[in-house]
Amino acid sequence: MKKDHEVMLSFSKDAIKLAQTAKAFGATSGGVAQGIEFGQVVVVATPWVATKDALAEAGQPTGKRVVWDCTNALRPDMTDLAVGFTISAAEEIQKAAPWARVVKAIPPFAELMQTGSVRIGDKGVGVFVASEDSEAKQIVTSLVRDIGAEPIDAGALRNARYIEPAAFLLVQLAYAEGLGPKIGLNLIG
Ligand SMILES: NC(=O)c1ccc[n+]([C@@H]2O[C@H](COP(=O)([O-])OP(=O)(O)OC[C@H]3O[C@@H](n4cnc5c(N)ncnc54)[C@H](OP(=O)(O)O)[C@@H]3O)[C@@H](O)[C@H]2O)c1
Repeated sequence: MKKDHEVMLSFSKDAIKLAQTAKAFGATSGGVAQGIEFGQVVVVATPWVATKDALAEAGQPTGKRVVWDCTNALRPDMTDLAVGFTISAAEEIQKAAPWARVVKAIPPFAELMQTGSVRIGDKGVGVFVASEDSEAKQIVTSLVRDIGAEPIDAGALRNARYIEPAAFLLVQLAYAEGLGPKIGLNLIG
């Protein structure tokens, strides 16, 4: 794809649509277990309600895999977070997938990425990156840079408990408060 990464798409209700979408992006498609074996990084970008089903199709991965958790754990009607206070979606994913080296990093809104740039003014949109696995965090940080966003080291995976509500605030501002999805967060100091 654009940055020369090889990509395999997995997990769809419709395998034909998945294969067509993959082809349109110059990617391949396959089952979840196949996708996990395919690459260096497994990107989890599923609606929260479907995430555990997706992980259940993982099979028995060989060795540990870097998992980039992009999920926003929203209720299906998007009115609230489905997970919070004592645990985060990222930590739930880590529990469900012991083979994973989970890194939380919620990317910018798709609508912003579709404009071809995730910059607003002269700054890349900030993406908080949390994990206890420093090598995995480094790999995802580099992928965040590849999409043009500005990675911000947010410490341990537990901090996903605060990253996820911050991302939900953005969803509220974009869709409930009418600002639209061409917005993002950043850290100034
Ligand atoms: N969109 C954004 O701007 C954005 C930004 C940051 C984070 N996120 C987070 O990233 C994740 C994915 O977001 P998205 O906007 O790409 O969501 P989405 O379009 O609703 O879902 C992504 C894909 O999941 C697949 N899927 C497979 N099984 C499913 C099932 N049982 N129920 C529903 N979908 C199923 C769907 O594929 P098929 O239709 O082929 O079945 C769909 O294309 C979410 O957790 C979201 O909160 C999204």
